[in-house]
Amino acid sequence: MAEREVIGVVGGDQMGSGIAQLAIVAGLHVLLYDSDSEALARATNSISASISRLVAKGHLSQPAGDNAMKNLKCIQNLEEFRAADVIIEAIVESEDVKKKLFSELDKIAKVSAILASNTSSISITRLASVTTRPSQVIGMHFMNPPPIMKLIEIIRGADTSDEVYITIKSLAERLGKTVICSQDYPGFIVNRILMPMINEAFYTLYTGVATKEDIDTGMKLGTNHPMGPLELADFIGLDVCLSIMKVLHEGLGDNKYSPCPLLVQYVDAGRFGRKKGIGVYLYQKEPAKSKPSPSL
Ligand SMILES: NC(=O)c1ccc[n+]([C@@H]2O[C@H](COP(=O)([O-])OP(=O)(O)OC[C@H]3O[C@@H](n4cnc5c(N)ncnc54)[C@H](O)[C@@H]3O)[C@@H](O)[C@H]2O)c1
Repeated sequence: MAEREVIGVVGGDQMGSGIAQLAIVAGLHVLLYDSDSEALARATNSISASISRLVAKGHLSQPAGDNAMKNLKCIQNLEEFRAADVIIEAIVESEDVKKKLFSELDKIAKVSAILASNTSSISITRLASVTTRPSQVIGMHFMNPPPIMKLIEIIRGADTSDEVYITIKSLAERLGKTVICSQDYPGFIVNRILMPMINEAFYTLYTGVATKEDIDTGMKLGTNHPMGPLELADFIGLDVCLSIMKVLHEGLGDNKYSPCPLLVQYVDAGRFGRKKGIGVYLYQKEPAKSKPSPSL
């Protein structure tokens, strides 16, 4: 299969903007779309600020930084994805919303295009089932933040072809990442293990075993994690964590994956974590830091 040079990215929040940044710095042309025009404007600003920081720190030359920004095109209309070789979806973690998008993209994208999802947990096979090209649908799960974290987890749906897997693996390697491959079961590898740990940290807080600070300090200093599980949950987004726990619970059918009521309550209250200024912790006085962390 030919080299894939034009990448479409759908969703411009923390994951989509990070994926777009990574790809433009690697010399790929990126078309970035978000249904919310303000999110798209925020994405452009954050990518531009990030690239300026890379130039200021000497990680990227000024011409390379300028070229990277030239490789980015924000689009207002999904139809423009007709030009893309690979389209990476990074929208909200909802199966219904993603299925609707995949069905639309399938009608727009060129016949040879690959449709990839950055989903944290949703079945690639089910997303592929709403398209006419299930062999060209695959999971390409970046970690947060995408420009910094070294891993991409590739998920093969039931019908993903070997050729598409090889193409996406080489794209991931071109982006400088190490690849792991998972079969298509809820949560794949990373979130199958990480999310129950985060959920258990919520149960530990909920049942009054310890304070949030002691839970996080315990896991940082006791197990050498760079961030505590509650701090990490705020970084990921509590809404995203809850969606993933629901997928694990429904998909694996075991009550050990039942989301902690405290996590549910925080999400009901709109306490989504750093992106909202409040989650387990309060961030209003100290805006979100972009500290790299092991994440989903
Ligand atoms: N947050 C993390 O740490 C993390 C890590 C890895 C993977 N993921 C996965 O990546 C995806 C995106 O995560 P996020 O945290 O950036 O999500 P988010 O929910 O914060 O943002 C989603 C973005 O998608 C846009 N959007 C929603 N519906 C859309 C549609 N139909 N068409 C176009 N744009 C639409 C929204 O306007 C928003 O800007 C999710 O599937 C998530 O599970 C998240």
